[in-house]
Amino acid sequence: MTEKRTGRIVRVNGNMVVAETGSTIIQNEVAYIAHGAEHLKAEVIRVRGNRAEMQVFESTTGINIGEEVDFTGELLSVELGPGLLGQIFDGLQNPLPHLAEKYGFFLKRGAYTEALPDETTWDFTPLVKKGDILRGGSRVGFVPEKIFKHYIMVPFQLAASDLEVVSVAPGGRYDLKTAVAELKDRNGKSHSVYMQQLWPVKIPIKAYAEKLMPSTPLVTRMRLIDSLFPVALGGTYCIPGPFGAGKTVLQQLTSRYAEVDIVIVAACGERAGEVVETLKTFPTINDPRTGRPLIDRTVIICNTSSMPVAAREASVYTAVTIAEYYRQMGLNVLLLADSTSRWAQAMREMSGRLEEIPGEEAFPAYLESRIASFYERAGVVNLNDGTRGSVTIGGTISPAGGNFEEPVTQATLKVVGAFHGLSRERSDARRYPAIDPLLSWSKYKSFIDEKEVSYAHRMLRKSNDVMQMMKVIGEEGTSVADYIDYLKGEFFDFSYLQQNAFDEVDEATPADRQKYIFSFLYSDVLKRELDLPSKEEALHFFQKLRQLFKGWNSVPWKTPGFEKAEKEIRLVLDEKAHKKEEISA
Ligand SMILES: Nc1ncnc2c1ncn2[C@@H]1O[C@H](COP(=O)(O)OP(=O)(O)O)[C@@H](O)[C@H]1O
Ligand SMILES: [Mg+2]
Repeated sequence: MTEKRTGRIVRVNGNMVVAETGSTIIQNEVAYIAHGAEHLKAEVIRVRGNRAEMQVFESTTGINIGEEVDFTGELLSVELGPGLLGQIFDGLQNPLPHLAEKYGFFLKRGAYTEALPDETTWDFTPLVKKGDILRGGSRVGFVPEKIFKHYIMVPFQLAASDLEVVSVAPGGRYDLKTAVAELKDRNGKSHSVYMQQLWPVKIPIKAYAEKLMPSTPLVTRMRLIDSLFPVALGGTYCIPGPFGAGKTVLQQLTSRYAEVDIVIVAACGERAGEVVETLKTFPTINDPRTGRPLIDRTVIICNTSSMPVAAREASVYTAVTIAEYYRQMGLNVLLLADSTSRWAQAMREMSGRLEEIPGEEAFPAYLESRIASFYERAGVVNLNDGTRGSVTIGGTISPAGGNFEEPVTQATLKVVGAFHGLSRERSDARRYPAIDPLLSWSKYKSFIDEKEVSYAHRMLRKSNDVMQMMKVIGEEGTSVADYIDYLKGEFFDFSYLQQNAFDEVDEATPADRQKYIFSFLYSDVLKRELDLPSKEEALHFFQKLRQLFKGWNSVPWKTPGFEKAEKEIRLVLDEKAHKKEEISA
């Protein structure tokens, strides 16, 4: 494909540009529009005879009919190698702070910068020797990247071949343009291994032995999630919720506390200011587990709503490809996409420009399959060397008016393993996280005892039923027993499900503390028959208990203060249970 293939623009329709050419065109290949000194990146999204219909990743203002288009023959790809961690990229993998220095904060059209600087050197340690047989994804060595061993791997597209090591570089510092190993395939053809490789973003990286069913819980340290609606390592989940209900805050907390190695944040901003804020605050946050900057184990891909739609689409794919890359190193990676509705809207906009037959709410008919194939890139895998890695994907959805009956939410619910639905009612009541426990579900297993979990679910439903009933018939018509069930549910919500993001202890609860508290709540509060003869007494008792629990939640785990608070709570509880136990004894 060395011959230059060009075309001429015959139509411009927003970010969709059509070019006519005498050459063959490849579906999804990248093309550049030559507009004076500017070269605008585009992707061929449909081929019709001698016409290439392209989505342009930049504003097309001033682009004219007759201007030249150069086809590259390459699929939209990302650079994979050491130096990704800690970076903030746009959807086309341009480093943002880097560009900001060059062009001011807002990106200049057609300004592309290499994602990983060629000239940076990395301290390489070889892991193979001459004569070793390798395949795509095999580790030839490693370099230190932040706190990780970043493995240098045989290009993934060589997946099936037997590759013999002809030579390998001795330990030392090399840049990304220097080959660190030479390989020879069965046909005698040589292949060089560099510390950096390119990979097309729309194709999953599959240089692993097998994909497994996700079964290990991913600990987010958010009690409501881990205990009642867990996510598994390598699993998928979604967070639909109305505007302002707390989706972004929830994802930020998760990016900080989730027990994974690496977090990839794909921020397709709802508002322009939101992403700028992420860019400013993220680098200043410390990793609560390592004490080092959180950004050291994070990659941020961001787009604001003011960027062209095609760039938004690309960012989702760029993010998941980087996540898969680190999974190949045997790491647990969490990809957080906020908000996938923006991505779906980009699809809708391009589909409209292509004049495709619209589906529900004008989304394209392939919306469902695109969403499915995105989430399918999650998974826990056994790598060829026997180690294991995972990509977990969590995406927020922002349906208009918070109505979950819309196509993006519905398509996502069909494919994900857990659903954390935020409700306006909860967020208005400032019950954070505003995940509605009556609406949400998870197909994964929690680390909390199953029997205890299902009891808690039943209690919450019962409590809600009584509350709804009281709305109709009033408190007077409710029995004391029902009223106590109502109070138990409310108590469980306030003292366990809700978490105060402004309290440094309460904002993140480790798994063993969750197990301990949940068991306590189950056997000593929820299941316990309490001697509360009147509603006033019951109300007063649970108010007191709630205050005590609130205090307990702020006391660090396994400290004398923790034990002291527990003792006090047990005394209060035992007082109310005392009589009953005497009778039944
Ligand atoms: N866990 C939380 N604790 C305290 N306040 C929260 C929490 N979640 C959300 N909020 C409040 O709600 C506001 C909107 O949240 P945000 O995550 O931006 O909503 P969304 O992304 O759903 O539009 C936040 O600015 C904050 O004031
Ligand atoms: Mg948001």
